[in-house]
Amino acid sequence: MTIRQTFAIDDQEFRGKRVLVTGGTKGAGEAIVRRLAAAGARVATTARSPDAGSPAELFVQADVATLDGAANVAAATIDGLGGIDIVIHSVGGSKSPGGGFAALSDRIWQDELNLNLLAAVRLDRLLVPEMIKQGSGAIVHVSSIQRRLPLHESTIAYAAAKAALSTYSKALSKELGPKGIRVNAVAPGWIHTTASEAMVKRLAAHAGSDEETARQGIMDALGGIPIGRPAWPQEVAELVAFVVSDRASAIHGAEYVIDGGTIPTV
Ligand SMILES: NC(=O)c1ccc[n+]([C@@H]2O[C@H](COP(=O)([O-])OP(=O)(O)OC[C@H]3O[C@@H](n4cnc5c(N)ncnc54)[C@H](OP(=O)(O)O)[C@@H]3O)[C@@H](O)[C@H]2O)c1
Repeated sequence: MTIRQTFAIDDQEFRGKRVLVTGGTKGAGEAIVRRLAAAGARVATTARSPDAGSPAELFVQADVATLDGAANVAAATIDGLGGIDIVIHSVGGSKSPGGGFAALSDRIWQDELNLNLLAAVRLDRLLVPEMIKQGSGAIVHVSSIQRRLPLHESTIAYAAAKAALSTYSKALSKELGPKGIRVNAVAPGWIHTTASEAMVKRLAAHAGSDEETARQGIMDALGGIPIGRPAWPQEVAELVAFVVSDRASAIHGAEYVIDGGTIPTV
């Protein structure tokens, strides 16, 4: 999925910067990998599926929702890039079935927490000491507007995990700011990705309806999107690239919402 790019990218802006983007083979993660690589960064990325031509310099096949997977990714990144300057935790998502709270088993809750919260917590624990040693770094946690605007049909556990991620991100910023490491969160609303389309299909299957009805159901539950459409992954990547760049050098402990106006309050 692409949008026409109408602005120039400075191909030197991230020259030599060593970057890890988790979940960088699809959706927003892939767009972030492409954006930072186009700006000169040396990018490592991860996914569970084998590499299918990622533009990243280093691809690590691993499940970052497990302790071992996170450890493999951290070690391979430090070895492969020779250190780390920027970490973007883009991995996340929900595979929960429709049916509200009663459909969410303990297993599902644990899976959602492992993917949407603990993957970032574990990778930070492994990688941040490298940043502390060099006295610099930038971290972005990709959260979701659902942490403030949770939907009840299938994503209660996901929304709760993202709320925890945003709170964790803020707490980490307080500890790392004085050490020269900037920590921020980016909270997208609906993004046009294969994952969000898969959720539409799951909800349609659960309700015995069609995809258009399920899509409209999500729009209604969100209260509509004032700009009239979901964001494109490239639009999320542009925001992330700004937040980790030196242009944002005083931005720290913040959460940027990118939702086309979905959150209805100030
Ligand atoms: N899409 C939306 O509407 C939306 C809205 C708000 C927030 N967000 C957030 O934005 C971020 C990106 O979402 P997206 O929809 O762009 O994602 P996506 O299209 O589903 O892509 C997910 C990426 O992560 C990888 N991945 C998934 N599970 C993994 C695991 N356990 N270990 C390693 N890699 C894994 C996937 O590859 P494999 O499948 O091969 O592992 C893929 O590269 C997520 O944090 C999501 O919660 C998305």
